[in-house]
Amino acid sequence: MSSMAGEENALNLSQGFPDFDIDTQLIEFLHEAMVNGLNQYAPMAGLPELREQIARKTEKLHGKTYDVNDEITVVPGATLGIFAVISAVVQQGDEVIIFDPAYDSYQPSIELNGGKAIQIPLSFPNFSIDWNRVKDAISERTKLIIINSPHNPSGAILHQNDLDALREIVQNTNIFILSDEVYEHIIFDRHEHLSLAKDAILSERTFITSSFGKTYHTTGWKMGYVLAPKKLTKVLREGYQFMAFSAHTPTQYAFAKMLKDESSYLNLGKFYQDKRDLFRELVKDSRFDILPTHGSYFQLLSFRKISQERDMDFAERLTRKHKIASIPISVFYKDNTDHQVLRFCFAKRNETLIKAAEILCKI
Ligand SMILES: Cc1ncc(COP(=O)(O)O)c(C=O)c1O
Repeated sequence: MSSMAGEENALNLSQGFPDFDIDTQLIEFLHEAMVNGLNQYAPMAGLPELREQIARKTEKLHGKTYDVNDEITVVPGATLGIFAVISAVVQQGDEVIIFDPAYDSYQPSIELNGGKAIQIPLSFPNFSIDWNRVKDAISERTKLIIINSPHNPSGAILHQNDLDALREIVQNTNIFILSDEVYEHIIFDRHEHLSLAKDAILSERTFITSSFGKTYHTTGWKMGYVLAPKKLTKVLREGYQFMAFSAHTPTQYAFAKMLKDESSYLNLGKFYQDKRDLFRELVKDSRFDILPTHGSYFQLLSFRKISQERDMDFAERLTRKHKIASIPISVFYKDNTDHQVLRFCFAKRNETLIKAAEILCKI
């Protein structure tokens, strides 16, 4: 959709990336690292000063201490972190439970490692997990469950009852959990991000992935990290060392410096909540129905009252004719379930959101 938006010169609210400038301080830190000669391989686990900051942040926010040397691994983007986790635990014939709609890397990463993705649909329109269906889907081949909160594409978040249900399901099994928390700091309405790091029992079998791309508006810098107990981290690194070995050194230095200032991530929820509220307010009189979003930078709009077209066709028509690009959410489902809903990314300048809403209100 992004390339179609480019061809059509359409406003691009499709792919999840910000259209505004990043903090100049971050660029200065990056420059400082390069000028000071930090241009060679970082240690495989990541620069120690960055791992220290990640450990400090996690302990402060979630009350769990991850060991700086043995339990934190910096990776070139969460997508690679997810792939490395899946390769660490999934073998030929293993089953992995994922929830549809899902971030598009999960299923291919499972299949590339010889596993089988077992898709469980999230209930519509709240995108919550039906834990009875999860219980029924567990078999002796289930190796991993992948959860994602705040959730792409829906903006739904997990609650305490979800973690309680998950804990009950996996207890007395050898099932691992991958908790994709890349939008951990983008959460609204006074909700608290329920990291699996907060759960003393679940965290013992969990890999957590996060992304600095989302937190610092730098999706093109591809930098993230994986938190996991020592035993799990050991297996993760056995594979990861041959996938990338290490991540870009100057960028790690820059993020380590940024993380020292807590406001650089603690204010992010408010920053995006204002954008969400602006966008929702501007489209409230349109013919689209606005679905709830509690986190991430995505807003779902249903076009059911406007057209009976398939979401793919409608999204293409919006891009080509009305010059606004979105993502049809059927693409996030293995079976292309069509709820007639489009995903709009509101990580955009207010002027972009105003222009987008003007277009949407005319449809
Ligand atoms: C749910 C989810 N996980 C992982 C990622 C990937 O993060 P990164 O850009 O750090 O690879 C994304 C990016 O869109 C995402 O939405």
